[in-house]
Amino acid sequence: MHDLTGKVAFVTGAGSVGEGWGNGKAAAVLMARQGALVFGVDISAEALESTAALLAREGIADRWHSVVCDMTVDTQVESSVLECQRHFGQIDILVNNIGGSAPGDPVSMSEEVWHQQLDLNLTTAFLACKHVLPIMEQQFEATAHGGSIVNIGSIGSMSFQVGGRVSAGYAASKAGLEAFSRSTAIAYVLKGIRVNTVVPGVMYTPLVEHRLVGQLGAADAERLIAERHASVPMGRMGDAWDVAHAVLFLASDEAGYITATQIVVDGGMTAARPS
Ligand SMILES: NC(=O)c1ccc[n+]([C@@H]2O[C@H](COP(=O)([O-])OP(=O)(O)OC[C@H]3O[C@@H](n4cnc5c(N)ncnc54)[C@H](O)[C@@H]3O)[C@@H](O)[C@H]2O)c1
Repeated sequence: MHDLTGKVAFVTGAGSVGEGWGNGKAAAVLMARQGALVFGVDISAEALESTAALLAREGIADRWHSVVCDMTVDTQVESSVLECQRHFGQIDILVNNIGGSAPGDPVSMSEEVWHQQLDLNLTTAFLACKHVLPIMEQQFEATAHGGSIVNIGSIGSMSFQVGGRVSAGYAASKAGLEAFSRSTAIAYVLKGIRVNTVVPGVMYTPLVEHRLVGQLGAADAERLIAERHASVPMGRMGDAWDVAHAVLFLASDEAGYITATQIVVDGGMTAARPS
């Protein structure tokens, strides 16, 4: 099941902020365990080294190659994609995992932060698709093997707030990412390329603690983390593996008839939303 032997996966944000498992790191490691050759990109060399070390410990370091890349910069994205193709010869799977939220509504958020949110959560996926789609299309024409693109959204796209925080830029960019996914999926539906979104709920990844402590201070961050656990019908936040398993499924051939849709991974949170 979900055997990725012979496939090459390009994973953005393949490290993780701080210790532990971010969604991108877990997806990269899980796909390598399933046989894929994984090309990781991240803005942090240290984060990439940590993922490389984990794969080396599992004896599968040969399934990994990485470059440092700021995914908001077109020239860097283009050269990373070309380096992946040069190193591994093909690209079958693209996981667009870069993202993060900044608090604020249209009045409290500066225009600069608004643009940063769109760049981080949406433009990164656009740029990756711009450079990867032609490669996948050529592969499909030459071999009849298409590609799978998995974007990482958020239930923030449904304006979900935990602890009363409004993140208008994040909500808009993640909603935009889902629309971008569906639109791109239909544009490429006859070219052998599937495009879907994994929509995580509130997940306990290193980024949460890292960002919240930075934004709120340790005591308030601890309170908000407790609120995040309590807000989920399952009684706890999910983790990066919950996201990674959904990514693996959508990337695999078992999901071959699935495109232009979302898998929500949220412990029941959106269904329990007060009307
Ligand atoms: N953690 C959650 O609760 C949660 C919930 C819903 C959705 N998500 C989404 O999941 C995704 C991953 O979040 P995470 O919490 O697992 O983070 P993570 O720990 O995977 O960290 C993201 C990685 O991206 C890298 N990165 C940041 N900016 C970059 C850039 N411009 N170019 C290249 N690399 C960059 C960071 O260095 C880090 O290694 C994001 O899109 C996020 O919005 C997370």
